[in-house]
Amino acid sequence: MFGKVNSVGLTGLNAFPVYVEIEASAGLPAFDIVGLADVAVRESRERIRSAFRTSRLDFPRSKVLVNLAPADVKKSGSVHDLAIAVALLCVSGAIDSRRIEKAAFVGEVSLSGELRKINGVLPMTILAQQDLEEIYVPKDNALEASAVRGIKVYGIESLPQLVMHLCGKQELQPEPVFTPSKADYISSLDFADVKGQAAAKKALEVAAAGGHNVLMIGAPGSGKSMLAKRMPSILPEMTFEEAIETTGVHSVAGLLDSKHPLITTRPFRSPHHTVSAAGLAGGGTTPRPGEISLAHNGLLFLDELAEFSRPALEILRQPLEDMKVTISRVSGSITYPCSFMLIGAMNPCPCGYYGHPTRKCICSKNQVDHYLNKISGPMLDRFDIHLEVAPVEFADLSSGEKEESSESIRHRVQAARDIQNKRFEGTGITCNARITPEILHDVCPMTDKAEKMLGDMFDKLGLSARAYEKILKVARTVADMDGTETIDKPHIAQAVQYRSLDRKYWKS
Ligand SMILES: Nc1ncnc2c1ncn2[C@@H]1O[C@H](COP(=O)(O)OP(=O)(O)OP(=O)(O)O)[C@@H](O)[C@H]1O
Ligand SMILES: [Mg+2]
Repeated sequence: MFGKVNSVGLTGLNAFPVYVEIEASAGLPAFDIVGLADVAVRESRERIRSAFRTSRLDFPRSKVLVNLAPADVKKSGSVHDLAIAVALLCVSGAIDSRRIEKAAFVGEVSLSGELRKINGVLPMTILAQQDLEEIYVPKDNALEASAVRGIKVYGIESLPQLVMHLCGKQELQPEPVFTPSKADYISSLDFADVKGQAAAKKALEVAAAGGHNVLMIGAPGSGKSMLAKRMPSILPEMTFEEAIETTGVHSVAGLLDSKHPLITTRPFRSPHHTVSAAGLAGGGTTPRPGEISLAHNGLLFLDELAEFSRPALEILRQPLEDMKVTISRVSGSITYPCSFMLIGAMNPCPCGYYGHPTRKCICSKNQVDHYLNKISGPMLDRFDIHLEVAPVEFADLSSGEKEESSESIRHRVQAARDIQNKRFEGTGITCNARITPEILHDVCPMTDKAEKMLGDMFDKLGLSARAYEKILKVARTVADMDGTETIDKPHIAQAVQYRSLDRKYWKS
């Protein structure tokens, strides 16, 4: 007897169809699994045998061979347990194989026949939805899978429950399609807590509106960390596609919260400065997504930027441009997306007071240079907005005046993003910071005065080609916030002013 059950495998974020083929023939009872399976897959034999015994299900009394096709792709982990168990149930006659032709099965089976949560269910369900009508997943993964439309999702607790359902004795209801609530968008820290700092707040608003990278530099206690931690509260809403992509990465990393199966708030990741290059970019024997991929469609905050190891910082350079990172291993390479907004914060020197308006810096010129040179030129170039955070004035700090709330700032950010979403519809570009060189001039029309000003600045300040592009992109965002299509002189002036720090600190 021969049978076939659909399952789904995963390498990185890429789901691929796996067919569990089973052949039962006369001979001494035996149970073998072939098809480039790793140790965890081969061990599923023992788990499934035990699960059948404890669940009082009949195990086929024949010579059984299971093949995981396609046989040339490596299968790993325990995700195929459920499909293998279903194949055995078809052979033993407990399930009619015609009933499951249009269904996929993923999940780990425990010794007692219960189903255990697995990682990566979201990308698996997205793949299954293309050709199949139903997917059976562990109950704990059901909410996550139900974010995908166009496929019936069944959350299963145990093998006996699945048998009862498939025989029609006790049918289960498919999981209702999950729709995130609006409340998911709210973040607890608010810009209203930050007194004064109007210029810094404005720059961060522009950054959020266009998805621009920001480098904040300032004395200790000037509020850099405080400002950065409030960024999630003004970031624009995620589109549904972005939410699915980001959730996919977190699903593969096994970091999804069972109560919030769909990530609808832009992620905010702030790894400690002792993080390794692999921790940032991703790594491990079976490469897991790193911090930059977990920040996909969101924000990566590197506090105390100069304290990060040089290899950790330099590894960011290529992903920052390509918006994806490829991790190579002997067994193959895996690519994870990483389109994120980078915010760095640092002091200007070891003592922290270099360039301070009132306090004296005690560092030598060499110490200051050494400290600043921890950020390489190319890395510095990748920040679109340079922001000097001056210490808050006493008058601002002690005034009882109410500051603008994050919600009100977010409305302006969202309006600018709506313009961008419309402009880039169908191009795959998500925001102004991601404008490609090919379309830069088409989407950034300038008035004659603005063009002349940019030309003058280019010569006067000795800008690099990348700096020129970045200025134009930031000016595009400033103009969007103004609601104007053509970039004007004040927009260019504001954008140029956001590139002034390298000349003040990294001047030599
Ligand atoms: N503008 C402000 N309004 C209200 N409180 C402020 C402001 N700026 C700073 N503070 C207070 O000062 C504290 C220190 O700020 P923060 O940790 O953000 O400084 P920092 O610039 O990150 O310093 P460091 O360089 O030492 O990391 C904050 O927790 C906050 O209580
Ligand atoms: Mg800080």
